[in-house]
Amino acid sequence: MPHDFMPGLAGVPAARSAISDVDGQRGILEYRGIRVEDLCKKSSFLETTWLLLFGRLPSKAELDRFSNDLTHHRRIKYRIVDLIKCLPEQGHPMDALQAAVAALGMFYPGRNVKDVENNYWSAVRLIAKLPTIVAAYARLRRGDDHIPPRDDLSFCENFLYMVSDQVPDRLSAQTLDVCLILHAEHTMNASTFAGMVTASTLADPYTVVASSIGALKGPLHGGANEEVVEMLKEIGTPERVRPYLERKLKDKQKIMGFGHRVYKVKDPRATILQGLCERLFKECGTSPLYEVAVEVERISAELLAGKSVHPNVDFYSGILYDKMGIEVEFFTPIFAIARVAGWLAHWFEQLRENKLYRPDQIYEGEHNRPYVPIENR
Ligand SMILES: CC(C)(COP(=O)(O)OP(=O)(O)OC[C@H]1O[C@@H](n2cnc3c(N)ncnc32)[C@H](O)[C@@H]1OP(=O)(O)O)[C@@H](O)C(=O)NCCC(=O)NCCS
Repeated sequence: MPHDFMPGLAGVPAARSAISDVDGQRGILEYRGIRVEDLCKKSSFLETTWLLLFGRLPSKAELDRFSNDLTHHRRIKYRIVDLIKCLPEQGHPMDALQAAVAALGMFYPGRNVKDVENNYWSAVRLIAKLPTIVAAYARLRRGDDHIPPRDDLSFCENFLYMVSDQVPDRLSAQTLDVCLILHAEHTMNASTFAGMVTASTLADPYTVVASSIGALKGPLHGGANEEVVEMLKEIGTPERVRPYLERKLKDKQKIMGFGHRVYKVKDPRATILQGLCERLFKECGTSPLYEVAVEVERISAELLAGKSVHPNVDFYSGILYDKMGIEVEFFTPIFAIARVAGWLAHWFEQLRENKLYRPDQIYEGEHNRPYVPIENR
C-alpha cells in the first residue's frame, strides 16, 4: 500500500512506548508518567534510571541492590584503558566513547539477548562503565594517568573525581545528578531510534549503545550544547548581545540552544537548568557566561516574538558544566552517560515484542538499463 513520504519520518510513530511522554504545547515532560520536575526535586539519577528501565519506582531494597551492582561494575579492564591510550589525543571524546563501548562487547557475553538476567548485567555494566571511559579519555589524552573509580563515592561524585582527581563539593555533584536526570530520556529522538534499529536485528547491547552514541554525536542532536558555550564566549559581555543577535537573525542564522521540534513553549528542562545555575552561582560565584545567557534569553524573546522559539535543554547545561571545569568537548559524552538509561529502557521494551525494522522507500531511479561493456563507455 503506498504511503506519503515524511522526510525525517517527522510525525510517523516508530514504536508504541510507555517510557516517556512530551506535551510540547504545555511544556510537560514525564518519565513513566512522573513529571520530570518531581524527579529532579525528589529523586536521583540512579533511582530515575531504575524507573525508566523497570517502569515503576524501586523499593529501598531494589534501589540499594541496583546502586551496589552499579558501584561494583565501574572499573574498566586494563585492556580497555590501553585501547583508550592508543587513541589520538586530538580526537573527539564521542568517537573514543563509541570505540570503547563497541570494544566492551568483546569482553562480555551479550549475544543471547533472550537471557533476561544477562541483559540486566549488560545494562548495569554499560551504565556503570560509561563515566569511567569518558573520564579515562579526558585524562589520558592530556597525558595524565587514568584514575580508577572509588567505591565510596556517589555516581556523580565519582565521575567528577575521576576527571579532576579531586572529590567535588556536594553542590556540584548534586547539580550534575539533576543534569543527568534531565538528559536521561526524551521519547523517540534520533539516538534512541538509531539504537532501536540496531536492537531490532537482535545485536548485543554494546553494539546497540555504540550505534546510539554515533547518532548522538551530531550537532543537530547532542552536539548543540557545545555550540551554545562557544556562542556565549564569542558574545563576551551582556551589552554585546543585542547587536550580535540582530546580526545573526538578519543573516537568517539560528541561535544555538533555542527552538525545538516538539516544544512550542520554554523547554521544562531549560527552566530547571536555569534554576540550577542560579543556585550554583549564588554559592560558588557567578559565571560571566550565565550573565550573557540571561541577556540572550531576554533579547531573543523580543526579537523572536510570535515564533514559539524558546530556550531548549542545551541552552543552560553547558554553562553548568563549564563552571564545573569540564571541557566543552565533554558535554556530549555527559549527555551519553545520562541517555544510556533511556536507550536501555527502550532496548528492554523493544525486546519484549521485537520486529526487525525494515522500512520502505520510494524508488526514483531508472529500470531496464543496458549493461555497457567498459571499453564502450
Ligand atoms: C531545533 C530546531 C532544529 C527545530 O527546528 P524546527 O522545529 O524545524 O523549527 P523551524 O526551523 O521550522 O523554525 C520555525 C521558525 O522559527 C525560527 N527558528 C527556529 N529555531 C530558531 C533559532 N534557534 N534561532 C532563530 N530562529 C529560529 C526559524 O527560522 C523559523 O522562522 P521562519 O518561520 O521565519 O522561517 C531549530 O530550532 C534549531 O536549529 N535550533 C538551534 C539548534 C539547537 O539548539 N538544537 C538543539 C535542539 S534540543
